[in-house]
Amino acid sequence: MTETDFIPKPYSKSINNGSFTWSSPSNIALVKYWGKKKDQIPENPSISFTLDNCKTTTKLSFSKKDNQNEFSFDVFLDDEKKDDFKSKIETFFKRIEAYLPFLKDYHFKIETSNTFPHSSGIASSASGMSALALCLMSVEKELSEAISDTLFIQKASFLARLGSGSACRSLEGDLVVWGNHAEIDGSSDLYGVKYPFEVHQNFKNYNDTILLVDKGEKQVSSTVGHNLMYGHPFAAQRFDQAAENLSNIKSILKTGDLDAFIALVESEALTLHAMMMTSMPYFILMKPNTMEIINKIWAFREATNSKVCFTLDAGANVHVLYPENETEEVQGFIKTELAIYCQKGEYINDKVGFGAKLIVSE
Ligand code: PMV
Repeated sequence: MTETDFIPKPYSKSINNGSFTWSSPSNIALVKYWGKKKDQIPENPSISFTLDNCKTTTKLSFSKKDNQNEFSFDVFLDDEKKDDFKSKIETFFKRIEAYLPFLKDYHFKIETSNTFPHSSGIASSASGMSALALCLMSVEKELSEAISDTLFIQKASFLARLGSGSACRSLEGDLVVWGNHAEIDGSSDLYGVKYPFEVHQNFKNYNDTILLVDKGEKQVSSTVGHNLMYGHPFAAQRFDQAAENLSNIKSILKTGDLDAFIALVESEALTLHAMMMTSMPYFILMKPNTMEIINKIWAFREATNSKVCFTLDAGANVHVLYPENETEEVQGFIKTELAIYCQKGEYINDKVGFGAKLIVSE
């Protein structure tokens, strides 16, 4: 598939109004995406676990309008009008207009809510952009003769990527790859694909508890961070390393080698932050409590035989990953030893999930 394959044929049907509601999850990368080329093309392939509880639900209502020269939409978060979200959505609409030529034909009402608190430091862009992309695809499906399920999800992922890169990994579960990789059948820079190979029982229902270390707005946006990979002294090695880690994770996922999984995932998390610390300008998103948590996890692993490990996003929060058979022990450890490092003691227990869902179609 190339970009032009996502430009639709002239629509054969017409519709005046309607609404669709989709719910789409967040995801957590095991091999990280950090650095992009023009048009949200990743510099390296990445793979993520799709989450289950951390979700955005978006209702998109649409009604035909007369003036077809401009975009027209209103955005609501938890029933409150959010005009400060409009410029991000306007940019998104401009980027995807060539692929969804109906966008200027309708007025849209976008009503969205997250299962996780807005100011939790958990990025809502992956779940938010994928939910909106799916709603828009539902509109296109109404206007078109036939769109196969495969094309529907592929194009929704393609559109979500143009909203926020990692959003293209949030549509399906339980593991999604984004970015061309010679050893991953069907992988593409343009959209995420369900991981196509065998996954060992050890990784089924894997847990992710998100420790909310810093619930504030991100100090450095991911757009700025990605751009700092241009001319970064270690960029080329980093992109090669990510591709190699994706090759390595294939056998880890197949054999269920939890020790190798831990080493790869923690190294990826620290490498992501090392890239931030060694860019120019440099920055540090980890907080002292992020480090406290990492050290506690290492000590717990040393003292017990636990296979718990951590990963990080572009922020101070820590994702604690652990197998299903350790749920009780690790959740006890989190409650007694890690919660104190979280803002207001808050954390979210999540686990690997199975992707987005159409909730209502009217
Ligand atoms: O999707 P963006 O542009 O916000 O980038 C997110 C990048 C990381 O979350 C740091 C890593 C990843 O692969 O999700």
